Amino acid sequence: QDLSHLNTLGLAAHAGAFVTLDDIAQLPALSALAQQAESLLVLGGGSNLVLPERVPGLVARVAFHGVRLLEAQPDAWLIEAAGGEIWHRFVETCVNNGWDGLENLALIPGTVGAAPVQNIGAYGVEFEERFHSLTAWDVSAGRFVEMTAADCRYAYRDSAFKHDAPGRWVIVSVRFALPRPWRPVLAYPDLQRHPRLADGAPAARDIFEAVCEIRRAKLPDPAVTGNAGSFFKNPIVTAAVRDALAERYPGLVSYAQPDGRYKLAAGWLIDQCGWKGRTLGAAGVHDRQALVLVNRGGATAADIMGLAAAIQDAVAQRYGVRLEPEPVVV
Ligand code: EPU
Repeated sequence: QDLSHLNTLGLAAHAGAFVTLDDIAQLPALSALAQQAESLLVLGGGSNLVLPERVPGLVARVAFHGVRLLEAQPDAWLIEAAGGEIWHRFVETCVNNGWDGLENLALIPGTVGAAPVQNIGAYGVEFEERFHSLTAWDVSAGRFVEMTAADCRYAYRDSAFKHDAPGRWVIVSVRFALPRPWRPVLAYPDLQRHPRLADGAPAARDIFEAVCEIRRAKLPDPAVTGNAGSFFKNPIVTAAVRDALAERYPGLVSYAQPDGRYKLAAGWLIDQCGWKGRTLGAAGVHDRQALVLVNRGGATAADIMGLAAAIQDAVAQRYGVRLEPEPVVV
């Protein structure tokens, strides 16, 4: 099976064994197959993955569908979406139905089932803030498990799923609690500057449209240019490290964290090192957002990881900060 259209970086990749999961009745058989296979890779939208040319073992693509309102509680809409739903289409469905609260997360590539793995976030909202619970199939135990936020151990772009074997869990459905009354989240600088949101009382749809416009202006469309969104996490450092850097580099972009530490803008660090727009082999750095690595055409995992290593070295040498990749590297 050719996987080049099933990963948004567009890396040429092949799987020897491949199944599409569109019915939960297939899950016991998946567990049996996985026992025989050398490994199992569970694939959502493939938007946060670096695949090798030959993917070993079995690849299972999650394609469960459905979105429904479970309950209109006085203080929250309880919504359930199947793991294979396209994230952006799900967000749009919610906004269309007046189930507001996910609009800041518009246009993030990938599926509903991949969102908890990565604990996606953008423009001031993190997935975990809207999460209620999920149902996953435990491939190794062969049973369904219900998980709360505590079970998922969410952190910045991180969850328990990223630390388990990549084939341990199939996320079947995710439930969201969208707080009522709705409150717009407008603190992110890009939103504050946006003309569409200037009149002070925007609707969720206005935020949805604004986020789409901002993302389209800055981030490459994976359908046109292969990419996996931000390639590195924004590093979190102590106040002492941040203060020392800010003294030497007055333009340093940093955000105070609730625990007293600081998050540095990795895109700014990479940009300052002169890497924005550059190319190494068939991999490149996006010219409008230095945190995004792109496939210039025919790139392999080695091209992407080679470029990533060169950037990590440059940033470490100049700023003494180690950048960690955000995608799952298979
Ligand atoms: N910057 C530069 N040069 C660049 C890129 C950024 O100077 O080439 C500066 C910007 O001017 C800004 C700061 O760095 O002052 C931060 O940039 P931006 O607002 O674009 O956000 P980010 O921190 O680079 C994060 C997320 C994105 C998310 C945006 C918006 C991570 C790793 N990335 O990017 O998420 O869309 O904020 O909330 O947390 C993703 O995770 O794949 C992703 C795209």
